Parts: sequence; structure tokens; C-alpha cells
Amino acid sequence: MKVLRRKSRPVGWAYSPPVSSWWGKPHPTILILSMSILFITVGCSEMSGVVSRKAANHAVRKVVDFNGNWKFAKGNQQAVEKPDFDDTSWQEVRLPHDWAISGPFNPNENGYAGKLPWRGEGWYRKTFEIEKADSGRRVYLDFDGVMAFPKVYINGKLAGQWDYGYVSFRVDVTPFVKYDETNVIAVHVDTRQQGTRWYPGAGIYRKVTMTVCNPVHIAHWGTYITTPEVGDTSATVRVRTEIENHLDTESKVTVEVALFDPDGRRVAEGTKEGVVSAGGSSDMEQSFMISNPQRWDITTPKLYTAKTIVRLSNKIVDTEETTFGIRTFKLTADDGFHLNGRRVQLYGVNLHHDHGPLGAAFYTRAMERQLEIMRDMGCNAIRTSHNPSAPELLDLCDRMGFVVWDECFDKWDDKAGRVQGQPPLEEYGQKQIRNFVMRDRNHPCVVVWSIGNEIGNQPSDREGKSPERIKFMSDFVRKYDPSRLVGMACHIPNTVDEPILDALDFTGWNYARRYARYREKYPDKPIIYSESASTLSTRGFYELPLPNVKTDYSSRNQVDSYDLNAASWSDILDAEFKLMEDDGFVAGEFVWTGFDYLGEPTPFSREARSSYFGIVDLCGIPKDRFYLYRSYWRPETTTIHILPHWNWPERIDRNVPVFVYTNGNSAELFLNGKSLGIRHKGVLPEKAVNFAQGKTAMASSVQDEKGLIVSHANDNNRQTRWGASTAEPNQWWQVDLGEVRSVRYLAIDFESESKNYGYEIKISPDGSTWQTIVTKNTSRIPRWGGPTRIFHDVDAQGRYVRIEFTRLQQGVWASIKEFGVYPEKVESDYYEPTYKYRLRWNEVIYEPGELKAVAYKDGKKIGEAVMRTAGEPEKIRLTPDRRELEATGQDLCYILVEALDQEGNPCPLTDRLIRFGIQGPAEIAGVGNGNPLSLEPFQADYRKLFYGKAMLILRAKEGQSGDIAVTATSEGLNPAKITVQSKELD
Ligand code: GAL
Repeated sequence: MKVLRRKSRPVGWAYSPPVSSWWGKPHPTILILSMSILFITVGCSEMSGVVSRKAANHAVRKVVDFNGNWKFAKGNQQAVEKPDFDDTSWQEVRLPHDWAISGPFNPNENGYAGKLPWRGEGWYRKTFEIEKADSGRRVYLDFDGVMAFPKVYINGKLAGQWDYGYVSFRVDVTPFVKYDETNVIAVHVDTRQQGTRWYPGAGIYRKVTMTVCNPVHIAHWGTYITTPEVGDTSATVRVRTEIENHLDTESKVTVEVALFDPDGRRVAEGTKEGVVSAGGSSDMEQSFMISNPQRWDITTPKLYTAKTIVRLSNKIVDTEETTFGIRTFKLTADDGFHLNGRRVQLYGVNLHHDHGPLGAAFYTRAMERQLEIMRDMGCNAIRTSHNPSAPELLDLCDRMGFVVWDECFDKWDDKAGRVQGQPPLEEYGQKQIRNFVMRDRNHPCVVVWSIGNEIGNQPSDREGKSPERIKFMSDFVRKYDPSRLVGMACHIPNTVDEPILDALDFTGWNYARRYARYREKYPDKPIIYSESASTLSTRGFYELPLPNVKTDYSSRNQVDSYDLNAASWSDILDAEFKLMEDDGFVAGEFVWTGFDYLGEPTPFSREARSSYFGIVDLCGIPKDRFYLYRSYWRPETTTIHILPHWNWPERIDRNVPVFVYTNGNSAELFLNGKSLGIRHKGVLPEKAVNFAQGKTAMASSVQDEKGLIVSHANDNNRQTRWGASTAEPNQWWQVDLGEVRSVRYLAIDFESESKNYGYEIKISPDGSTWQTIVTKNTSRIPRWGGPTRIFHDVDAQGRYVRIEFTRLQQGVWASIKEFGVYPEKVESDYYEPTYKYRLRWNEVIYEPGELKAVAYKDGKKIGEAVMRTAGEPEKIRLTPDRRELEATGQDLCYILVEALDQEGNPCPLTDRLIRFGIQGPAEIAGVGNGNPLSLEPFQADYRKLFYGKAMLILRAKEGQSGDIAVTATSEGLNPAKITVQSKELD
């Protein structure tokens, strides 16, 4: 069994120095560990000097890595919990472990949860020992997350259990363990009743630690640090320490706290004495004044450390270190989010918990890499949608400078582990919220708490929200941390017609400016755009012609990468940029989503197994959108990105539009050295003539009293409309084009969503003989919202054009805001914002060769980018994200795999199969390529390229250092070989 040591700590760090030296400067390396509490072991005696590992085992608090040497079997068996159960045939595993990610995929299953076999039961077993010297001490097992409903047996007896798979929990195993003998732990995991809308994973998918400490000790998550007053010259830091006493006598304890600044200097200390009753617990609170505090900020994430020592009869019985930050922040109703006194626009992303090819298994490095990629894009905020994250995510955000929307639940039903037999929401909610808030409340990165996402309203939703439920759920949060605001992500605008949301401090709103009514009703409450965009795309996939409606998807089950598609209830990213500029009272947006994730493959929910929402693909390879966000979120950093690829052999001499994403405000595009002109941001292209505009129109009826007159439907003004005088169908509106015209395109703007209208459109040369050119029915899809504008490609001639309503959804009247009749396809006005943020050359006659964009900002050249037509694939290239790994069994190396042509150009279309060979102390943790349709296994030594790219993920073996040679081969291609190194920690 291994005692966890601080990264980079010299050997013998687990030592028992005199107290004076323990108060010394902490090691400068900041370790990323859970709960902001560094794993420490401190000797109970006060002898001086560095002692051996053996002495460490007598430390006052031992925190032991409990992740190695487990056995696993899927399914259920009898008597597994019994110590003498024979598990020799079981699979050996190391935690974190997700049993479902290795597949196989079930192609027939709906994709909502990734088509992976996550539903079922599984058992984990392991043996461990606790030395005699520890008898009389407390032994706890801390699980960061088990999916789901774990039952923990020690030596055949049930020691503890939990329900909600995303919440961390502790099991007190003291009464069940034996000392100096072999103990057997068996954990039963059962996901059969788990509800989910995405891939949840299965098994002990986050780390487990064992803590051995004295009977009088700091309670689990028992240190709570707040900074009630923060100024430029001083800050008050309040440290509350909860002490548990497991002795059967009352204990008089002394709690010593010392605070260290980010440079390791001791800046405050204090002592508090108190009495803890037998079998009870007690809070000791101390306040400190710190001068000239160094602020935690997204730009300078400075962290302080509190070191706590607990003494009983002058003997140290427990110690703990907790990191915290000093910052001010507020969410305002009128001016968004303020951090340390200045307005900070939240450039946020939603992240689901899985890590693509690694599944739900949590690796700190995988998370760190996700955040590095997001930070490169300019992201400064993370929403842990829709559940508590692994604790390391918050450690990383503290250290890297992201603010966090920390979320406890999606819904309050079986998706929160509330299955049959669970207590009512009040009891259940408190239990989960307690652990959620207590674990995370010391993190300076956490700025708001969320109690749910898109929960329906009672009574139609049985598990839905009501004023009472919102109140008690948010009060539970406040009970454990009154220092932050409590809110939730909402989606039903008319919820505000009742007082349901009253008890929240703020609200988040998902999509389509649904916050408008809340803003009117609660002008004094802050708003965050908790989900924006839901723009869709597949990395590397382009299809022409361009879509003209956001839901105009390819029939190939991939989504075009020109970034013009979004889910029906949501919008393309440019529209959201504009919205955030217009609505300065909103704190900023959290894009749905930063990374693609397993499950929820809208719009191909049946066919695919992972999402299209990500700004980067499932392996972390940027899609085009990444550069659009980067150009907007990081205006001072040069970004020049050309799309699409330039390999279109089937479109020689035909149009292939070219977009450039840049932080510059103009660019000139060259094709094979010839200029295709300069484009400036904010300039709209000219549009074709609308034959209908201003022409004579007539209708079956009009609603005169409301001024809904006939000519409003073709006055080129979307604020006005024609409306029929009754709700009956069979109303019509007709325009006389003045002469016979060739009509190729119709564009109609309705008063409400176009799904509400069923109609026929007819054309006539003379007003008496009619030909039907469009027939459309009503629809209930999407459930919420949907476009109000619709386009029809037609090919007809005529002078009179008439729309006849055949069916109307209940409550909807025949009405038209604008009716456009065009000689050619015109781009929907919906895409107007794209001209503000992108540079677009819509008409480029394709010829192979070289595209070059030269970008300018305020008239000055900022750089150029080139895209070349690639020849046949000739060789493989491997690009690792890092060259040195730590031999911890947890460290990862992501290697980008590409095919290049003879000149070294990436080949954007190839799907060659690549095989991998590993020599040295590492193994393949996963492979992937970002194809949402791929049912190839994630755990394999081969992968097909997808649009020229794939990802190989290596995991360094524990305790083995040395060179790791990676080879990649493919028939007909020159192989590639690289070497990375694994190093053992001191
Ligand atoms: C939201 C929901 C998210 C995700 C997203 C996809 O309504 O809160 O969990 O489903 O839609 O656009």
C-alpha cells in the first residue's frame, strides 16, 4: 500500500519534524489534489529530522492511495462480499475504472447514452492491511464518485452505501477492519436504475483514498474558510475547524492555524482552545487579518494555504492543509459579473464529465488538458453540467484561473439517483447537497452554486420545481455555504408567471434569450446565460451547398463544419456573441459544450453515439469553431484560420465558399496567388431582389382593428404583419408580382414558429389556373421553440403567388410577417451576424492549389495563414502533447496521429487504418478520432483516421521509468516513430 506523497517532494517527505519546522515554508510546487486539502502525513512524536517511510506509517494522519490492485467482475454473483470468495479469475484493474467504455457498442441502441454497455451490475474486490499500531484509530474510505448505488462491504459486512453516482462520500470502516490481518473490501455497483440523458459511465470511476487518523481529528471537509472582508490593504480570513471526538471521554483540544501566502511566507497564525464532548463534534472559529492580500483572479490565480494542527494534551493529534483564495466577486443585476472590482465577461463552456475514449474514468491529466485547450481558446469559466465534478477539476480551476458554476443536479428524479425507495426530495436533497457544498466550498474558483438544470414545473412534472422545493433546496446550500449565490439553469420562460423562482438569488437561462421575461419580472436579480449556442458540427466534415436554416442538416449523419447549423432550440455562436453584446446585464455565456461528449448525439440521436455540440471533438482536436471563439474571446491574440480544407476534386470550377476566422477586422484572400478580394467584418453582401416587396397583395381576411393589414406581409419590415380575422384555417394571402417571373426561392417569416403552420403555396400565370409548388404540414418538433422563418427551394414561373393555410396549431392564427419571392437562393437573414464575426468569401470557384489569407487589424497586417490541396497520403506523423510523463499509473500522453502527403501537408479526407505499437513502460489508455458515428472500440491498438486525424492516449505504468517508443504503421504509408519518457517521482 502506498502512502500518498506530495508531488516532487523529496524522499522522506512523510516525516515528523518539530512543529516549528512544520510551520515552515511549504514546498513551492502546488499539488493538484482533491478538496484543496493536501495529502499529508505528519508524525505524532515531536522528534526532529527526516524519518523513513516506516515512520510515516505512524503519522497522525495517513492518507493512502487506495486505487491499485483491485479485482473486478461484471454481473452479479453470490457471496462476493465474503472474505473467502475466490476472485482469482477476475480481471485485475486499477482505479479509476469505467467498465463500460471498453464496449462493445450496441449499434441498435439509441445514442442518448453512448450505445455503450453501462447498465448493469459489477463487483470490485481488494485486500488490504492496517498495522497493529493503528488499532484504536479511525479508518475512513473516501470515494470521489461511484456510478452508481455502491454498497461497500468490509470483511463480509455492509459498512456503507451511497446513491447518487456523482457525489463524493465517506465510509467509516473503523468498526469493520482488522489490524495486522488481511481485510477484504468488496464494492457492489449497480447502474440498473440510474437515470441519465448522456453517458454516465459505470464503476468506481474516480479515485478512492483511505484515511487513518486519531480518534480526535478534523472532521471530513471540516475546515471551512471564508474571506468576509477583502480590501486592497487588508483582508479578513475566517477559518472554522470542526473537530470530531470519537473517544468516550470529553476532550480539551487546541486548534492552531497558520496562514501562508502564495509565496510560502507565514502571514498569520492563531490558536483556539475548546472542548469536544465524548462522541461529539465541535466547531472552532478563528479570524485573521492579512495585510496587502494577493488576490486570486482568473489572470493571477494566487492561492494561500491554511495549515491546521490539532493538539490534545499538547500532543499533535491531527494536521491538515487547505488552500484558499482571497478575492471579491459579485453577480449584479445590471452589469453582469464582477471579480476583484472589475466587470469580467464570462466566456464559459459547459463540460460533461466523460473524457471521450477514457470514458468516465477520471484522470487529472485528462482534465488538465481539457482546461488547457479551453484556456487557449480564451475560455475563463466552466459549468460542471449537470453534476458535481471530480474534486480535481476544482483544484485545477483554482490553480489555472477559471471561475466555476458548480452544479449539483440535472433533474431531481432518477437522474439524481432518486430511484424507488429513496426518501422524499427534502431529505434526499439535503444529503446530497451537504456533501456537494462541504467538499467544494473552499475553492476560490467556485462562484455560484446551482441546484438543477431545466427542471419542469410541478404539477405536470412530478419531480418538478415548486416554490417550496426551490426554497428548501437553495436553503440547504446556504446552510453549508452562505457566502455564494444560489441559482439554477432554467428553460421555461413563463415559469416567472408564478412565484416559483423567488427563492433563488439568480437564475441561469438556457438558449434563445429565454431570460427576457425573467428580466422583466425580476429586474433586481442577476442572470447568467447558462447554456448558449448548441451549435453543431463534425470536425473535418463539409457539405455544399451551405445550409440556409440552422436545422438544415446533412443527410450523411454528420454535421457540416461551416458552423451554420445549430439545434432547433438554440443558435449559431455568432448570434450569441451579438446577444451578449446587446444584453450587457447578463454575466456572460456558457457554451453548450466545450468538448464533445459521449451520448446525446443531436440531431442524429439514433445513429450516432457521441455529441456534435463540442467546440472541440471527442479527442480534443479543435473544430473550426474553436478558432472563431478564440478570435472573439482573445481579441489581442493572433488567430487566422481558413476553412474548409482545400481538397474538392469533385468541385473543380464550382463554388466552394471560404471563411476566415480571425481576430483581425479584415483579410485578403488569395487563390494560387490571385486575389479574391478583401472582406471586412460588419459588411453585409448584397442580396437578390425580392419580387414581392411592395407589390399589390390581397388576403381572405384581415384583422383591421389591430392594423394587421395585407401589405404588412411584403413591406420588408419584420415588426409588422398581416393577420387573418379568425383562427380558422383556409385563410390565404396572395401577391401579384406584376409580371410573370421565374421563381426559385421563397422565404417566409411567421409570427410564431413555422412548425405551427400547415399550408400550400400555389403559383399562377393569370390568377385563375394554379399550380401547387409547396405543401407543408404542422409539426410538434421541436418541443420548445424552433425557427419562425422558413425557406422553400422551388422552380416555377408565374405572376401570382398565394399561400393557403390548411392547418394551424391550436391558438395560432394565419399570419405573415414577411413573404419573399426570389429569382435565386438568398441567404437567410438569420446568418447576418456571421458577417460581423467572420470573413466570408461566398463565391469561390474551386481550383486545387493554395489558399492564403492575409489578415489585418486596424489597417495593420497581423499575419497570414495558408491552406493547401494535399496530395495522396504518404506518411504518418505523431505529435505528442508532452515528452515527459510521471510513472504514477495516472499520467497520460495524448498523441495526435495524422497522415501527410509528400510535401508534409495534412491529408484532410483520408480514413486510413493506423496500427500502434508501444515499447516501454506505458500502455494504451484509449484511441479515438472524433467521429460521432464510429463504433470502433476505444480500447484498441488501432484506429482509423477520421478526416485525416486520430488520437492515441498513452498511460505511463506505475513505478517504471524509461523510454517509451511509439510506432504507427499503415499499409502503403511510411511509418512514424517517436519516443517519450516516463520518470519516477523521487
Ligand atoms: C439543454 C440541456 C443540456 C443539453 C442541451 C443540448 O436543454 O440542459 O443538458 O441537453 O440542451 O442542447
